[in-house]
Amino acid sequence: MFRKLAAIATLFLAALRAVHRGLDSIPASTLTPFTDFGENPNDVQMYVYKPAHVAANPALLVAIHYCSGTAQGYFSRSKFAQLAETYGYVVIYPSSPHPDTCWDVSSDATLTHDGGSDSLSIANAARHAVACWDVAPARVFALGTSSGAMMTAVLAGAYPDIFAAGVVDSGVAFGCFALPGAAEDSWSARCAAGELVRTGAAWAAEVAAAYAGYGGAYPRMQVWHGTADATLHLQNFYEQIKQWTTVFGYAATPVSNVSEAALPSGYSNATFGPRLQAILAQGVGHTVPLFEQQYLEFFGIA
Ligand SMILES: *[C@@H]1O[C@H](CO)[C@@H](O)[C@H](O)[C@H]1NC(C)=O
Ligand SMILES: *[C@@H]1O[C@H](CO)[C@@H](O)[C@H](O)[C@H]1NC(C)=O
Repeated sequence: MFRKLAAIATLFLAALRAVHRGLDSIPASTLTPFTDFGENPNDVQMYVYKPAHVAANPALLVAIHYCSGTAQGYFSRSKFAQLAETYGYVVIYPSSPHPDTCWDVSSDATLTHDGGSDSLSIANAARHAVACWDVAPARVFALGTSSGAMMTAVLAGAYPDIFAAGVVDSGVAFGCFALPGAAEDSWSARCAAGELVRTGAAWAAEVAAAYAGYGGAYPRMQVWHGTADATLHLQNFYEQIKQWTTVFGYAATPVSNVSEAALPSGYSNATFGPRLQAILAQGVGHTVPLFEQQYLEFFGIA
């Protein structure tokens, strides 16, 4: 009897805590820091944007900034928050803890499921949103630009159980920046220069090794790259295509490759199957501008 009462009291307290940490505790329509979302090895700062009207079981966007950027910068220079007011989803903006404010996409820890470093912090923030904010577990999405694009690929490979889809704006394949033994957040000059050319099978093996024993689906991917990218060589676009077509079991050549009325001329949209689109922007450098509406359509939000 006593034990039962104690158990009920514990449940009640846990429920109270969950309510207190719920979305209600977050002010609407302003970028707000939040803490206590789980293990956070490098002390990544997390921010959330909750629109005035949150959809029931909302979708979650994790929007990840570029090097020398910040959560606030990505927030103010993109339309994700503004569009959240229309569509009712919630946005998390992580902010890099490293001096160059790039993300650690090079260490073994960050490239391994629950292995630690920045990717674990972002994964834990997403888990927190599902556990405490009523976010729909099947509608958790990642997107990012440059270093944030690379982190999006890292999350897709190491946390496929959390993320349903990812948009990579001017990034690289999962594992391309891997520099085991080097300091976290190291720069892979070879990957950036497009010198890491591998088979699809080799790239897919890197993804499989990130979460050994995982048997579920991998996130749907939409990859954007400019042909004149002088920071992350164009070759990285084609390496990503090799990687994800192999992961999804798609043919190496697209099913369709067309221009889109909604995109600038010179953009081609190659579709390899329902889980992979690769958009190439002729003459565009680093980085391809954001196409928020198209990302939301890909996520099934808009
Ligand atoms: C799609 O077509 C463009 C030319 O229109 C080409 O440059 C690009 O490489 C093609 N994309 C893929 C993924 O093959
Ligand atoms: C690319 O083409 C596919 C297939 O037609 C379409 O579903 C998708 O919306 C297109 N993507 C963009 C960004 O236009």
